[in-house]
Amino acid sequence: MANFRIEQDKKFDGIYWAFDPSGKRFLATKNLVRGFRVSDERVISVGGEEYRFWEPSRSKLSAAIVKGIRNLPIKPGSSVLYLGAANGITSSFVSDIIGKKGVLYGVEISASAMEDFIFVCQKRENMLPILADARSPENYSNMVDGKVDVVFEDVADQEQAKVMIRNAKAALKKGGYGMLAVKARCIDSAADPRKIFAQVEKELSEDFEIEENLDISQFEKDHEFLLLKYKG
Ligand SMILES: C[S@@+](CC[C@H](N)C(=O)[O-])C[C@H]1O[C@@H](n2cnc3c(N)ncnc32)[C@H](O)[C@@H]1O
Repeated sequence: MANFRIEQDKKFDGIYWAFDPSGKRFLATKNLVRGFRVSDERVISVGGEEYRFWEPSRSKLSAAIVKGIRNLPIKPGSSVLYLGAANGITSSFVSDIIGKKGVLYGVEISASAMEDFIFVCQKRENMLPILADARSPENYSNMVDGKVDVVFEDVADQEQAKVMIRNAKAALKKGGYGMLAVKARCIDSAADPRKIFAQVEKELSEDFEIEENLDISQFEKDHEFLLLKYKG
């Protein structure tokens, strides 16, 4: 097994880089629950800690970090409303970053995905499962304690911008952040993705400042990742 060297990211708490002997680097988080892996992610032990490799081809948030996002509002202690939790892969990395003082509310519409997600939540005390439709935050916002620091959205829905706006109005702090993985093909399978991205940004601009828009299509075809500051 290769010897890895670990470095904390220079800007973002909770983000690490694992370097192999050739100098190639891999994004990683420190495993909050030692000995538990959520999927088949690679785990290494360095200096008595476990680090989980976070592949950009399997997570749009990892892709956004690898592509050089300048601000990461998900940090130790953050509260996050995560829409489209699926079986908990990306949200488990968020759980590593926010740590024991943070909380992640994971909303998922599919009962079968939710079964896997609940298993992950049982292992990770900072993750709470919500079986619900993210288009209707009024049905679950009372399960969220106060307002969150970040609404993260990764749902395949034609009205992705509206889902973000509704959830922000229901549960996001003024000045908090939205993070949205825009799936152009879900919104219109025939149109030029650049037109779709421009439309989505325009729709969001009344409620959010668009701080960053990253092209992550190298890892997820026809996807853009948005960092949005909520005007409140
Ligand atoms: C691309 S997957 C999410 C992957 C996950 N974010 C990850 O990286 O680990 C999209 C998920 O959104 C869920 N979804 C789709 N529409 C939804 C809705 N209206 N409300 C909640 N979840 C929804 C799907 O069931 C699916 O599990």
